[in-house]
Amino acid sequence: MAAPPHWAIATHKGGTGKSKLIELIAAAAAEKGDNVLVVDMDAQANVTRRLRAQLPEDPRERKGASLAAILQRPSKGEVERILVKSGWGGIYTERITIAPAHLDLELLALTASQAASSRRLLTALAGVVDDFDLVVIDTPPNLLSHLIDNAWTAADLLWVPVEPEYDAVEAAKRVQQRVQEDRDVLNPDLQVGGFVINRFRSSLNLHNKRAEEVGTIIGPDAVCPVRFPELVVLKNGSEYAQPMSELGSEGRAMAALGADAYAWMRKRSDMLMGGAA
Ligand SMILES: Nc1ncnc2c1ncn2[C@@H]1O[C@H](COP(=O)(O)OP(=O)(O)OP(=O)(O)O)[C@@H](O)[C@H]1O
Ligand SMILES: [Mg+2]
Repeated sequence: MAAPPHWAIATHKGGTGKSKLIELIAAAAAEKGDNVLVVDMDAQANVTRRLRAQLPEDPRERKGASLAAILQRPSKGEVERILVKSGWGGIYTERITIAPAHLDLELLALTASQAASSRRLLTALAGVVDDFDLVVIDTPPNLLSHLIDNAWTAADLLWVPVEPEYDAVEAAKRVQQRVQEDRDVLNPDLQVGGFVINRFRSSLNLHNKRAEEVGTIIGPDAVCPVRFPELVVLKNGSEYAQPMSELGSEGRAMAALGADAYAWMRKRSDMLMGGAA
């Protein structure tokens, strides 16, 4: 079986909805019947918590059962040893697997000067990924960091969540710029898959204008037609670590938007990676 697409969610601005997009994609993938591996490369471990990764009960054992423990010197496929299921239950537990983060992931940068250190995640994932239909990597809000280098080296495509406001649009442009500048050293096949507008308020001229501007970064086709609104129910899903489908009719409407966004990303991913649609 061919390796599944590896997507990283990235941008240079904090709080734009990277981890939220992972929650939505992981849920949509599971609802569609896809098996997804979520790799949490952010020491904040937000996705690990929000997907209710089934971590060891004793907090002292959690570092050893996380990416922080294996990425110092990984052997091929070693990520297998730390994989856990989502605690969301039902199809979500069946189909969402997590490589959990831990605060000590921050320390990985200390050994960044070692040879081939940006290939560690790739090595740790080798072979293991064949059991999945999709690999999604969450990243911290940096542009130049050891964790980002590892995530981008392992990824085929980057997806960039953008709030339609100046600072976030500029941060999205910087992602595209770094991909162009550094892909030869990091990962020659790396591309920006596209941009996903989040916290969109259609009544604001400013948001409409900035959303249009996102379409100029690499072209309008690279902008997801689904624009996620700013809604308390989306926040509640993250806050209480629940899938949208369990949060009433408004939650189910957001799950449907998540499914549309996932379908678009999947199609575009197939197109960009030259696979069968
Ligand atoms: N469309 C939305 N409507 C309401 N709340 C949202 C929306 N998108 C994200 N949020 C909330 O905003 C907060 C920040 O989102 P999130 O953690 O996903 O951003 P992030 O880009 O991963 O942040 P960081 O850069 O710290 O990793 C979270 O509480 C999340 O639930
Ligand atoms: Mg995050």
